[in-house]
Amino acid sequence: MKRKDLLGLRGVSREEIVEILDTAARFRSVSKRRVKKVPTLRGRTVVTAFFENSTRTKTSFDLAAKRLSADTISFSSSTSATKKGETLMDTARNLDAMVPDAIIMRHPATGAPHMLAQKFPWAVINAGDGINEHPSQALLDMLTMRDHLGSLEGKTVAIVGDVYHSRVARSNIYGLSTMGARVLVAGPGTMCPPAMSELGVEVRHRIDEVLPEADVIMMLRIQRERLSRGMMSSVREYATFYGLDMEKLRRARPEVLVMHPGPINRGVEMTPDVADGERSVILEQVTNGVAVRMALLYLLLGGAPSGSDGGDDAAA
Ligand code: NCD
Repeated sequence: MKRKDLLGLRGVSREEIVEILDTAARFRSVSKRRVKKVPTLRGRTVVTAFFENSTRTKTSFDLAAKRLSADTISFSSSTSATKKGETLMDTARNLDAMVPDAIIMRHPATGAPHMLAQKFPWAVINAGDGINEHPSQALLDMLTMRDHLGSLEGKTVAIVGDVYHSRVARSNIYGLSTMGARVLVAGPGTMCPPAMSELGVEVRHRIDEVLPEADVIMMLRIQRERLSRGMMSSVREYATFYGLDMEKLRRARPEVLVMHPGPINRGVEMTPDVADGERSVILEQVTNGVAVRMALLYLLLGGAPSGSDGGDDAAA
């Protein structure tokens, strides 16, 4: 892969997506070994810089870097000098002074990782910027879909809920469209405005209008932290109309896949029997997350400098 950073899936080619997914599929074997480690990124330094809460994504990147033998340090805004008023640029200059190879960054502001990527020599992986993109999540979603559906070409993916405020949805929309899938979105008008059709998706409002056609149903969390007042009447009403329960699921295809990026609000986006039910692949998404992030670090950092101490073998 000939790029310094991964900031989003908009503009990433089909070939690159296939390369990432194929590399991730090969890295899965590392996590099944008793010693879950290969020397591929030995001596390289990977920093996770999260300016917004995360459990899954940060842990997953951390684990991916460690399984490739990179040194990892984590910087979190709640325990750092950001709390003392340091600007993002100053924080970045200080991180730069420690000579990292890659920074995995999550930030509430759209475009924050793009700004650092432009200014500094290290690889930047966007782990979620505001409502914009979250490419590694969409890649792990696509790997999970590909495992079950074989190919994404011509498949129908329904994304339901707070699509407008979801960086997961945006990255999936770009990636899935590139891979030839058809994307339907459904949610209340405030979370699924008609203008979303400019992204090449079909906008519907009732969940029943997408269920019967879907090969995959991706449920999203309401992004309360990004909602302004008046965007939702009540959680209970939302759950009634858009929450996925067993009764609604019966109106979908019997082989449909149910996905969710997490964290789930049980009883809001979906009921526990759906989240833990036989159509759910939610925990497979988490497992695939580590492999996809290993693939991204491997492809962006170019394996071991000498290219001969395990990098190629590990991915083979
Ligand atoms: C998502 C995120 O942070 O955008 N979570 C994740 O990375 N697994 C989705 C969400 O917060 O709802």
